[in-house]
Amino acid sequence: MTSKSAEDIVSTARALVGGDKGLLAMDESTGTCNKRFARRGIPQTEESRRAYRELLLTTPGLGEFISGVILCDETIRQRRSDGVMFVQAAADAGMIPGIKVDVGAKDLAGRPGEKVTEGLDGLRVRLGDYSKMGARFAKWRGVIAIGEGLPSGGCIDANAQALARYAALCQEAGLVPVVEPEVLMDGDHGMDRCRKVTEEVLRAVFEQMYRQGVVLDAMILKPNMVVPGLSCGTQESVDEVADATVGCLLRAVPAAVPGVAFLSGGQSGEVASARLNAMNARFRSRLPWALAFSFARAIQQPALEIWRGESDRVAAAQRALYHRAKCNGAARRGEYNAGMEAK
Ligand code: 13P
Repeated sequence: MTSKSAEDIVSTARALVGGDKGLLAMDESTGTCNKRFARRGIPQTEESRRAYRELLLTTPGLGEFISGVILCDETIRQRRSDGVMFVQAAADAGMIPGIKVDVGAKDLAGRPGEKVTEGLDGLRVRLGDYSKMGARFAKWRGVIAIGEGLPSGGCIDANAQALARYAALCQEAGLVPVVEPEVLMDGDHGMDRCRKVTEEVLRAVFEQMYRQGVVLDAMILKPNMVVPGLSCGTQESVDEVADATVGCLLRAVPAAVPGVAFLSGGQSGEVASARLNAMNARFRSRLPWALAFSFARAIQQPALEIWRGESDRVAAAQRALYHRAKCNGAARRGEYNAGMEAK
């Protein structure tokens, strides 16, 4: 990395979490996007995926709350119906274009129920190509499941090492790595178990990033919140989740990191906003890093429900997306409240 590009990526990383904004993750793989479309009776074609992503990107005013958008390999090559490339459309709306660069979580050999994310082979070349196309940051997601005897040390190490190697390659290419180690919500484990596993995973990730020479000032961490398993009988309050999450991050995330942008992981839009809000309302003035969002489902879901593939519902779907983005902008300032959801 030259010192000029080092400065550039530090300032891009700061911009991604600056201005009380957050990221819009719209990088679902073709398979995941098709599944979500199928559930709602939307045709699973390249054109309907393009039309949906155009709807998201052209939402009026979205750049007020969204600093950057995460595209995928299909969408970074697509255009608005007027011929403008999506990358340009994002930049024109004041949003930094980024790209998901992993190729998915695959079964980890010898570890039933566990996965390791692939995509390091040829990554240097792909990062160069994406950078030429206009991407300024990149994302890689590792997944860690909690279960009986899970996660294994082998799974944590394999994913942490892959995340660190990806992050180092991104910085070499002048792109900000958005490092996403996701501890999944599936299961009946309690919140404390999620807290312990999340802390262990984050410590492993930062240890590996140190070993690979990743510049912490020039990256964004995209973690899960510390929450009870989806089928756990005890569901803690919003404030308890906020306390557990911030406490865990304070113990495991170095102060040099400019920002933490949470994934939503299956929480509803309202719950994700309320939890992010509680963290900022209770701790913001005492934290070394910004606490932001990088949601996919928790920000897109209402828009997708309204759109259902119908062109005459685009404007209503865009209003729903704008609303969720605005709620999350308020949550960044600790000013979100349930009254904002009144229809
Ligand atoms: P969710 O917010 O739906 O968890 O998605 C975030 C993401 O980018 C997953 O990689």
